[in-house]
Amino acid sequence: MLSKILLPTDFSDHSIKCLNYVKKMADCGIEEVVVMHVVDYKIIKESDIVFDGAVDEEEVTAKSIAKAEQEIRKFAEPLKGMGLKISYLVKVGSPCSEIVKTAEELNVSMIIMGHRGHNLAEELLLGSTAEKVSRKSSKAVLLIK
Ligand SMILES: Nc1ncnc2c1ncn2[C@@H]1O[C@H](COP(=O)(O)OP(=O)(O)OP(=O)(O)O)[C@@H](O)[C@H]1O
Ligand SMILES: [Mg+2]
Repeated sequence: MLSKILLPTDFSDHSIKCLNYVKKMADCGIEEVVVMHVVDYKIIKESDIVFDGAVDEEEVTAKSIAKAEQEIRKFAEPLKGMGLKISYLVKVGSPCSEIVKTAEELNVSMIIMGHRGHNLAEELLLGSTAEKVSRKSSKAVLLIK
C-alpha cells in the first residue's frame, strides 16, 4: 500500500521533518522514495536577481536546476543504506502542478510533504503548494506538521 512514496522538497526545515517521517515509516512496506524538487518558474520570471553569475532567464534556470540536482542528493543522504530505492527528480514549472502530474505519471502510493515550506506567511494554516496538492491530487497526501 505504501510501496512508492513521492517526497517533494523545497529544502526547508519542514521538508527535513518529512524526510525523518519517511525514515520512521520505512518498515511499513516502503520500497521506493522519489525525491522531487520543482524549480519555481514564476520566481525565476518575476525576479530580477542575478543568480550565481547568471544574467538571463535561461541561464538562471539552468543554474537553478544544477544547484537543485546537488541539493536534492544532499537532502536525501539520510535515506541511504536503508534498503530503499531512491530516485531524484528536478522539474521546472509550478510546484503544485508538477507534483500532482508526477504523482499520477509515476503512480505513487502516497505523497508526503510539509504543511508549510519556506515562505512562512504566519496567518495561513497551509502553504499554497500543500493546499493545492492535497486538493487536486487523486493520490493519498500526508501533510507533516
Ligand atoms: N518548489 C517545491 N518543490 C518541491 N516541493 C515543494 C516546493 N515548494 C513546496 N514544496 C512542498 O510543499 C510543502 C509546503 O510548502 P508550501 O509552499 O505549501 O508552503 P509555504 O512555502 O509556507 O507557503 P507559500 O509558498 O504558499 O508562500 C513543503 O514542505 C514541500 O514539501
Ligand atoms: Mg512555498
